[in-house]
Amino acid sequence: MSSIAGIEQPVPNEEAGRMTMEAARERQRVEWALCASAWRRHRTSFTEPGREITERMLRLAAPRAGQRVLDLACGVGNPAFDLARLVGPEGRVLGLDLSGPMVAEARTLAAELGAANVEFRTIPGEHELGVPAGGFDVATCRAGLQYMPDRRGAVHAVLAALRPGGRFVAMTLGSAERCMPFQLTNGIVSRHVPLPTGGDDGDGPVALSSPADLAGLLTGAGFTGVRTEVFEAPIFEAPDPAAAWALFTETAGPFIQLLSSLPDETRRAIDEDAERTFAKAFPDGPVRPTGEILLVSGDKPE
Ligand SMILES: C[S@@+](CC[C@H](N)C(=O)[O-])C[C@H]1O[C@@H](n2cnc3c(N)ncnc32)[C@H](O)[C@@H]1O
Repeated sequence: MSSIAGIEQPVPNEEAGRMTMEAARERQRVEWALCASAWRRHRTSFTEPGREITERMLRLAAPRAGQRVLDLACGVGNPAFDLARLVGPEGRVLGLDLSGPMVAEARTLAAELGAANVEFRTIPGEHELGVPAGGFDVATCRAGLQYMPDRRGAVHAVLAALRPGGRFVAMTLGSAERCMPFQLTNGIVSRHVPLPTGGDDGDGPVALSSPADLAGLLTGAGFTGVRTEVFEAPIFEAPDPAAAWALFTETAGPFIQLLSSLPDETRRAIDEDAERTFAKAFPDGPVRPTGEILLVSGDKPE
């Protein structure tokens, strides 16, 4: 901050950085609002095939009965509902997300599932969690950090929210070439129109795909015992190529906007290409693409 006539003024570069980040968040809000209801509708197409990812996160997070857990970028409650089961009726899970519509869908699911020990809240940004310092034993973030413009701010905020000795576990994806869903869908769309850029800040599903960068985020914030794991696992499943393409076009916010803006003829050509491409990749049955999964864990110093 600088001072003009005794009034504190933001330093111009800091202010520009904040505005760029806020523009990126606003784009994320728009994109996730377009697909929030589809994420609830198609929930099991991600949760069941993605169970290996979630189980490995839960093993690392190791929440115990009665503990308080924070799930950042909770979406429609993956893994918040699993965490709620593990901490039991005496424990509490708080799911936080930038997207109001995602949080609304998660609340609807909580009511449907009768999950009384989990609460969902919207946050203004990844760096403003609005929770008491040291109030949580465990924190998770599944497929969320890569969308955040201020990842360092997010990890600092998680560190502040944990009690000393508390653990953070996060998951991101490998690069598009290592993740079949994105390799296939990027290929399909780019044969007809330019791909959406994903914003100037490089945020998107495969934006944080280096284990070293992921580990560096946690060590840089002050976490200790930071470890990464890289493995291949299924990401979603659909019964056939048409269902796989429907799943993608209903749950991928940036593509919803792009595809709905195209002339009918181009859209038809893309749809036909998609069915051919998925059928060729999965000739014998369900479409179950795998991808490179990155997990990172670290502890808040005692
Ligand atoms: C791929 S979904 C993952 C949801 C859930 N954790 C899962 O694994 O199914 C990404 C989520 O990140 C949220 N998100 C995007 N940018 C965010 C930000 N800056 N702060 C908090 N959440 C954000 C989105 O609203 C969305 O719910």
